[in-house]
Amino acid sequence: MKIKSLKQKKKWQGERVLLRVDFNVPRVGKRISEDFRIKAALPTIEFLQKQGARLIVISHWGDPVNVDPELSTRALARHLQKLLGKPVKFVGATIGKKVEAAVSAMKDGDIIILENLRFESGEKKNDIKFAQALAALADVYVGDAFSVCHREQASVSAVTRYLPAYAGLQLEAELKNLEKIMKPSKPLVMVMGGAKISTKAPIIKKLYPLASQILLGGGLANTFLKYQGYPIGKSLHDKESKKIVAQFYKKGKLMPKIILPPDVIVCTKQGKSAQRSVKDVKTSDNIFDIGPDSVALFAKYIKKAHTIVWNGPLGKFEDAAYKHGTLAVGAIIAARSTGPSFGLVGGGETIEALKLTKMEEYIDWVSTAGGAMLSYLGGEKMPGLKNIISK
Ligand code: 3PG
Repeated sequence: MKIKSLKQKKKWQGERVLLRVDFNVPRVGKRISEDFRIKAALPTIEFLQKQGARLIVISHWGDPVNVDPELSTRALARHLQKLLGKPVKFVGATIGKKVEAAVSAMKDGDIIILENLRFESGEKKNDIKFAQALAALADVYVGDAFSVCHREQASVSAVTRYLPAYAGLQLEAELKNLEKIMKPSKPLVMVMGGAKISTKAPIIKKLYPLASQILLGGGLANTFLKYQGYPIGKSLHDKESKKIVAQFYKKGKLMPKIILPPDVIVCTKQGKSAQRSVKDVKTSDNIFDIGPDSVALFAKYIKKAHTIVWNGPLGKFEDAAYKHGTLAVGAIIAARSTGPSFGLVGGGETIEALKLTKMEEYIDWVSTAGGAMLSYLGGEKMPGLKNIISK
């Protein structure tokens, strides 16, 4: 894989750079509650600013259908300014006269941030006119938003047809680290949780031949357990997915590398937590975590791995009574990373759980992406990479 890194371009001085970042960060009201993705873009921003580029930063925030003042990137501009310790000017539009005037007033090293891209209907439609209008603002495009590269959207995809495009430092690092999963030092162990099998099936299928074990928890495991005829009570599972799950069974038997939890922690009818074998779950039970036997079994495999990838919580970790399985497995992954094995973790909720282990720093690579990581590792189309990487 060849990456068109921004380091390959000799001169940035005076260049107007359209920098696509993903500042789609969680918020509570107007307050930014977590800024991992903003911090991840700082090396690219600081590098380009130092080189004297004029930075036009663009991002989506949330998924507004229309203009939503709560999701104005003004708050992101303020936050970025605080992190950089340098002025960041907010421009309350994405294209048009106001933006053009702001861009032509820029000096080398200046940074402006435009309004939320998704306030424009053309963004999600990958509209050519919108993409052209964005491209007309700049001389060069830098893509640093790996986490949205699976989307066929104007600022990610169409725009790269109209400007020379380069990968930002974060995007480049994401790709290099994900390469270590696609060409793993073996044994490779995957830990997958979360709710929807449809989003995880491609990655499980694609990496199955490379993996030694694929350990399942959460709603994902429930869906398999139900398919196999185990009682899962009232537990979360993916109802529409029988066909998808069926492809992981050969002659009625689950493919051998896929490992399901042997025991679970349920919330009983009385609202109490209880450990059960997967054979003994009651109709009134809700499976909210994997059990201690499952943690021990998963640990056995994780300890042998040289490469570990984790996406998706293994239970309702946000609830203190049901966090133990997810956090124990997260801690074991962290303990094995940075040394005996290469550990990669991705996905918003997964990172939240990882943080609770207080062992996040031991993970070799914490990806800024959730869906995009699954798509990329699953071999799906990545419109945002088309003009940035070549095989
Ligand atoms: C994400 O949060 O995964 C990315 O920002 C993409 O957002 P989207 O799922 O709303 O396209």
